[in-house]
Amino acid sequence: MEEERRIEDDRKMFGLMTHSTKSRTRSREIFARAQQSLVEGVNSPSRGTAVYSPGPVVLERGRGSHVWDVDGNEYVDFMMSFGALIHGHAHPKIVEVVSQTVAEGSHFAAATPAEAEAAERFRRMVPSAEVVRFANTGSEATMLALRLARAHTGRTKFLKFEGHYHGWYDPYCLNGHSHPIEQLGPPENPNKLPDSEGIPQSVFDDVVVAPWNDASTLEKILRVHGHELAAIITEPIMANMGCIPPRDGYLRTVCNLAHEYGALFILDEVVTGFRYAPGGCQQLYNLKLDLSTFGKALGAGFPIGAVAGPRAILDRMRWSEHMVLHYGTFNGHRLTMQVVAANLDLLSAEHVHRKLFAIGDAAIAGLREVFRRRKVPALVQGFGPMFQIYFTERNAIHDYRDFCQFVNTKKYSQFVHRLLDHGIYMTPSNGLHWIISTAHTEKDVDALLAAADQASADLA
Ligand SMILES: Cc1ncc(COP(=O)(O)O)c(C=O)c1O
Repeated sequence: MEEERRIEDDRKMFGLMTHSTKSRTRSREIFARAQQSLVEGVNSPSRGTAVYSPGPVVLERGRGSHVWDVDGNEYVDFMMSFGALIHGHAHPKIVEVVSQTVAEGSHFAAATPAEAEAAERFRRMVPSAEVVRFANTGSEATMLALRLARAHTGRTKFLKFEGHYHGWYDPYCLNGHSHPIEQLGPPENPNKLPDSEGIPQSVFDDVVVAPWNDASTLEKILRVHGHELAAIITEPIMANMGCIPPRDGYLRTVCNLAHEYGALFILDEVVTGFRYAPGGCQQLYNLKLDLSTFGKALGAGFPIGAVAGPRAILDRMRWSEHMVLHYGTFNGHRLTMQVVAANLDLLSAEHVHRKLFAIGDAAIAGLREVFRRRKVPALVQGFGPMFQIYFTERNAIHDYRDFCQFVNTKKYSQFVHRLLDHGIYMTPSNGLHWIISTAHTEKDVDALLAAADQASADLA
């Protein structure tokens, strides 16, 4: 109720529209201007014309679960800054903490009480976190985790899974984009498909690629490469080909196999951390892992990354001749640390994850009902605070190969463009996922279902 009152106040104060899209004239103008100075008019390809047609909706204001574009059109936001905004936009507590901290000095690059307070809360919530090291992005966290694993094991190679994204550090940029199935090679020995130019081939010589959610193929691959691996890294719920949960017991098997071969098990919780449970998916699935990485929701909208694990591994960063180097002017950024501490206090409240699950499950059930009624062959996959819609005849998408082969990503893009016209903000990229924040309400779910119904009718 409080949130809805604030949104209503914003509408009055800024003369914003209460319903969806009339015109995108200013969005077009600003995007045209931006293209003069920025590559593709944006700062990441996922925000420009690679995904949005004919160009992005240019946003300028957010409150709770709602955003407004530069033309004053209002949307319910289900992208939530790719999952960073666990409490929605401009949460009053975060605004208060930020305003106060900025006035006192936003960063000293020196020891502060704020970093100790953030770390204490982090350790209380994350089961495997004997200690934590903060960085600035998820990419930095996964980069550091790999360096630690290599130093700890004295091995160079590591295993990543097809379709998993761990940020844009060189060795992770492999088999992360979708390709026609013919290009993928045999599951026991997938072709290595770089996601980027500019990375030496020699970097990929140290990467072993395996299909995900398939324990017996992994066992075969490990028989060949297991003894050389410093680590196996995985997302717990595959979140960069939509939303693909692990098969029952799969993550436990991967963890046991890693240990059997003397490799570390790294769980990349950049997307799932603090979202699926106070202690992330390691708590949800009760996993005994070595290192885990975090970002996104940990910073409630501010740039953050973190690596957590046992002292025996993280202490390798202690200053010495043989240390694992991890520097960074902005590590433990005071403003961000204050936000992290406030955010983790908010996330520790008992009802929070229950609410995330209730709203998410209602959206999932409602969408399934809309597609059933409209006779649209679509699968809504996921649970609780994260899900994805796949236009497919299949009744489940289990991995990257299913995604590449059976999902109609063009239809999804058309569908989401219609949703944008009906007041729902989401990225048209099928590789991403729908996000529920603590700011979302049942009313937002109703708005989504009404828009999905109209979009389904538009596309029939
Ligand atoms: C699972 C996973 N790991 C790491 C990253 C990289 O995080 P960042 O974008 O903060 O560098 C992402 C980003 O989407 C991610 O989804």
